Amino acid sequence: MPKYTVITMPGDGIGNQVLPESLRVLKAVGFDANYIPADIGWDCWCNQGNALPDHTIDLLTKHKLGLFGAITSKPNKAAQAELKPELQGRGHVYYSPIVTMRQKFNLDICMRPCIGFIGNPLNYIRKRTDGGFDEPQINTTIFRQGTEGMYAGVEWTNPPENVRATLNSHPRFKAFANIPGPDLAVSVRIITRNAARRIITAAFEYAKKKKFKAVTICEKPNVLRETSGLMEEVAKEVKKSYPDIQLWSTNIDAQLMWLNKNPEDYNVVVASNLFGDILSDAFAGLVGGLGFAASGNIGDDVAVFEPTHGSAPKYAELNPPIVNPIAMILSAAMMVEHVRETDRADRIKKAVAAVVKEGKVRTYDMMRIPGSAKSISQGAASTTQMADAILAKL
Ligand code: NAI
Ligand code: MG
Repeated sequence: MPKYTVITMPGDGIGNQVLPESLRVLKAVGFDANYIPADIGWDCWCNQGNALPDHTIDLLTKHKLGLFGAITSKPNKAAQAELKPELQGRGHVYYSPIVTMRQKFNLDICMRPCIGFIGNPLNYIRKRTDGGFDEPQINTTIFRQGTEGMYAGVEWTNPPENVRATLNSHPRFKAFANIPGPDLAVSVRIITRNAARRIITAAFEYAKKKKFKAVTICEKPNVLRETSGLMEEVAKEVKKSYPDIQLWSTNIDAQLMWLNKNPEDYNVVVASNLFGDILSDAFAGLVGGLGFAASGNIGDDVAVFEPTHGSAPKYAELNPPIVNPIAMILSAAMMVEHVRETDRADRIKKAVAAVVKEGKVRTYDMMRIPGSAKSISQGAASTTQMADAILAKL
């Protein structure tokens, strides 16, 4: 019996191109697993009215470890139109299966490392006063709360009477009291002490493990007094258990400016859901962008690892595929590290680092050329060639 069972969910579009490459890499490092493929995504929505089928939920419940590619998501109106005719008008509502998965299994710790590889032509560089350039070594991991905050899903256009009445009882709502219902949309930002403590503790534990000197809480408590205020309060409380690690506090807007000035100063940044989403894309842009951005959604029981990128439909039909499999491969490495097979995870990361440093094999994004069927004739490696190069290093 293999030691692990991993539920593989390639999903839509390029998810189907990159996920199989990560499985080749896992095999090459001797990760002792059995893989069970499971459905998720747009076809499931169109044919079953549910983008995250019960069977997939059952498999994840049972085996607790998932590797996920990407899905296609569309706004509700477009989603309704693509539902197969016999399912239309039956009250099916499209929900993003990732958001559902995070909420269903309480995958509240979303971890997104943004770590620059030496030699990556996409790395952030900074102009020096003498006219030369610095390439700071960026090693930032974002801890994004994954289940609540601005993405809790509690929202209305034309809020029902009782909600409206409650809103009316808030003095600040006076300014909006006369807006007609259909012209009023409200999203509720929910922060709970428990979830805040979990994500902030995860950030501190990581800083301790990796011997980083500080954790940055990135919120906006001067304006979002209640919700960001609670995040800050909990951060100060958690910090007390980590005397050797400093707690820095930044505002989301200022942080986005500072990451263009001194990104190397931030090793661990923790934030609520929306701010964490923004921060992780922003930091990822400094170390190669979506082709390099890996992530883990980690709960107490279940954990699912996925590249941050989506299904990139415009590249999904290209044969051979051209997209960069590194984000997916690094996500697989995160899974391996999660089950404490640290040596194997390190081998994967070192193999990726060696290929990037050598610079001989580069997918189109790493060459800064537009992605198209012509990319390969312009010297870009295909998805498979990139994975082959990584395998060769292993
Ligand atoms: P996307 O991440 O799919 O693609 C944006 C662009 O980034 C691509 O056109 C491509 O230029 C580049 N890119 C993405 N992955 C790449 C890779 N591995 N290598 C090289 N370049 C890469 O985001 P987009 O276009 O906004 O959304 C497309 C679909 O994906 C939508 O339906 C969206 O809802 C969904 N989506 C799903 C996510 C997920 O499954 N976690 C996350 C983001 C979007
Ligand atoms: Mg995002």
